[in-house]
Amino acid sequence: MRFRIRPIARLRGEAEVPGDKSVSHRAALLGALAEGVSEVQGYLEAEDCLRTIAAVQALGAEVTRKGPGHYRIAGGGLRGLSEPADVIDCGNSGTSVRLLAGVLAAQPFCTILTGDASLRRRPMGRIAEPLRAMGATITGRADGTRLPLAIRGVAPTKAIQYATPVASAQVKSAILLAGLAADGPVTVTEPAPSRDHSERMLRRFGARLVSDDCVVTLTPGPLRATTVVVPGDISSAAFLLVAGAVVADARVTLHRVGVNPTRTGVLDVLEAMGARIETAQAADEGEPTASLTVTSSALRAATIGGALLIPRLIDEVPVLAVAAAVASGVTVVRDARELRVKESDRIATLARELGRMGAAVEERPDGMAITGGRRLHGAAVSSGGDHRVAMALTVAGLVAEGETVVDDVACVATSFPTFADLINTLAGAPAITVEP
Ligand code: S3P
Repeated sequence: MRFRIRPIARLRGEAEVPGDKSVSHRAALLGALAEGVSEVQGYLEAEDCLRTIAAVQALGAEVTRKGPGHYRIAGGGLRGLSEPADVIDCGNSGTSVRLLAGVLAAQPFCTILTGDASLRRRPMGRIAEPLRAMGATITGRADGTRLPLAIRGVAPTKAIQYATPVASAQVKSAILLAGLAADGPVTVTEPAPSRDHSERMLRRFGARLVSDDCVVTLTPGPLRATTVVVPGDISSAAFLLVAGAVVADARVTLHRVGVNPTRTGVLDVLEAMGARIETAQAADEGEPTASLTVTSSALRAATIGGALLIPRLIDEVPVLAVAAAVASGVTVVRDARELRVKESDRIATLARELGRMGAAVEERPDGMAITGGRRLHGAAVSSGGDHRVAMALTVAGLVAEGETVVDDVACVATSFPTFADLINTLAGAPAITVEP
């Protein structure tokens, strides 16, 4: 599947972006582990999060779709899951597989997890190691560090105090989920704070948890069913925010965007680059939300680095690279080696594909240097099967000279299936044509 993109001069209107991917996964998993019936509104109905729903169903949870994004999940408690009849395929979804591994480490049966070619390349040792220390038996390819992984859990799991070498919410969450059924308190220490959606939602489901920036301690115990309202995904909003900043005549308002401070690095960087973004705080139902309005702006370069900032915007680097290519000056992204183990090696993919559009992107081991201000030109580019690269290249195409064709875009459906339609609506014209 391809996107054929025409440059646009105008982007105007109001919209809501789909539900937050991270929050949606957690709602499905905690709903399945809780006692009673949970209601989830605003669930992201994109491939990744539907994989998590299918997984909890395969493990015996009863899930009923009541309407768009509205699910009822009947959980049977921490011991209510049962051995699945088949392998669980997590597709492209790293969050599904890593968080499920945490759940399964505490289930006394055998489950095999796998995924697509991209997910089978990604590192799983980071979760396998602590989960083994908690008593689970985990085997798999590459010495048990690559999918497929076979997991035989134990109940109770062993309490641990674990210091993760990477600031990763997926690692932290896997340990906490396994810790719900541990024989004592479980502590995770990170080198820098990662997104805290698991901690917030665990509390909402009644878990006992103490946390400060880099340390979280969970006291094991049951979860009780609750209601979850999923905010809009700031990682999806980021594509529209950058598009709104770089398109000549733009003013776009996005409502109900999740603005959890562990996720808002993209707003800080865009503001430092001179983007005009107004924020109006809105509801806070466990996760703070806001309406964000972006207006066309003259962007300048910024430095994007540091242990505290990078985890707050790691998924937004692809689209920030597009902002940097348009901005005046040299933007340096550093301390972001994690980009190499995402859905693609994002440093290599961005340098190569944005380069085809005339951007000057120098690849570095832990990031890139982007010399902005050159006029981008339309080109034939490819996402490398990476949804965020596909959408970032599309945003670049909206301001390039001539037509851009982005190949391999079916992956956009993993996180933002309505992306092209939403851009076309705001553009008031078919800027993006989808071709089979
Ligand atoms: C996520 C955590 C991040 C992020 C991913 C979603 C989550 O990954 O990049 O898209 O929902 O916990 P890491 O935990 O590997 O940093």
